[in-house]
Amino acid sequence: MPLYSADLTAVPAHYVTRFVSGGSLAALLEKTGKLQWDRVQQILVKLGRAVESAREKGLLNRFYFDLRPSHILIERWGQIFEPFLSFIGRDTEQRGASLVQHLRELEQDEADKREAFAYILPEQLGMTKGPVVSPEISDAYLLGLMGYHMLTGALPEPPDTANLGDDDETVAARFPKRELFDKESGKEWVEWSDWQYFAVVIEKLIAIDPRDRFPDYKSAMWALEHPKLYTLQRVRDSYKRCAIPDQFFSGFYSRFFERCPEAKPLFSSLGKKLDEGARWRRQKGMVDSAVLMLFSYFAEVAEQQTIAEEYRQDSTILSYFARRHADVLASKAGRKGLKVAPEWFDEFVDSLAESACISDRLSGDDRSRLLLREQWRQVLKPGSDYLKRSHEVAQ
Ligand code: HEM
Repeated sequence: MPLYSADLTAVPAHYVTRFVSGGSLAALLEKTGKLQWDRVQQILVKLGRAVESAREKGLLNRFYFDLRPSHILIERWGQIFEPFLSFIGRDTEQRGASLVQHLRELEQDEADKREAFAYILPEQLGMTKGPVVSPEISDAYLLGLMGYHMLTGALPEPPDTANLGDDDETVAARFPKRELFDKESGKEWVEWSDWQYFAVVIEKLIAIDPRDRFPDYKSAMWALEHPKLYTLQRVRDSYKRCAIPDQFFSGFYSRFFERCPEAKPLFSSLGKKLDEGARWRRQKGMVDSAVLMLFSYFAEVAEQQTIAEEYRQDSTILSYFARRHADVLASKAGRKGLKVAPEWFDEFVDSLAESACISDRLSGDDRSRLLLREQWRQVLKPGSDYLKRSHEVAQ
């Protein structure tokens, strides 16, 4: 926000900035409640870039930038929301009990005070374990918290600041759970909307433990701009962690055959003339190719969505393969007197996702495992549906 002049000796001290007609983001949220996810994304990406450039120019040399809705002004031009960072944020390096005391004593109205408490950073209350948190990581947390605030339309619940020491190690327990995802979401076979891909990014930004957040500001900004590709990246990383041990592949086959016993005879002829070791290598190779193809298809579809409709391509990375796969599968099934069932494709994906979550060495609680399994499904499903449709056409 351009600053035109300031008089700090006058009473009251004042400064003159560009006029922004829309008022603060806090006032907007008060009036409208929650905002649409793509609008939230638009606002956060612009703010995030502004913070980045302010830091690059050395305008912010303090511990963290006091990002919260009443410090953001919004100009509106129709559907476009242009956010501005106002420099009325407070500069404080206080932590723990002294910070809480400082906030309580400030002369400000109740709404502003509530917001200041809701926007306290976990690292300001204590959290001595782990490496020192860089200011950029804290900026990313505050951007994420504003995202959470805009998506839910409600001021986030503040942490419990009663009886706090200056360096409290039990900070995590003082923060309420700020989850956007329904705990049950992993149990249902549902197709995610863009909102859910975005919500996953916001949840990661606002993890209480800084080690669970994005490792740096750049990757946080990338994920905010490309929530679908962030999900793909997470699933790819998961595959890297589990592709080496055989457990993933054997787990996949036993799950798939348990669910679709009729499909098993179609695979038994695979590499008939090969010895057992070579046959197993081929079977693993087939699953590996299948997974990588489905990843590529997901990336392609996500990319196509960013292109104007008239320039989108009809053929995809799977076009040729889908026809060949449909022919081979239909003729193999025909020879055995079987019919290819469309449900096999869903079971194929489900078996891959479950097997991956069990073989992935990444530790995490039940919720993060459920979420990971759901992310696997979402990434594999579009390509699998594409192959399924080709079979339906071929039959
Ligand atoms: C859902 C996504 C799927 C993908 C991406 C996929 C991918 C592949 C790939 C890459 C191959 C190796 C092709 C080659 O070597 O030329 C293959 C072969 C095969 N697939 Fe699939 N597949 C999928 C689903 C299924 C399903 C649901 C079945 C059900 C029975 C199935 C049955 C087979 C069989 C029997 C072969 C062996 C064909 C042969 O070697 O003669 N696939 N698949």
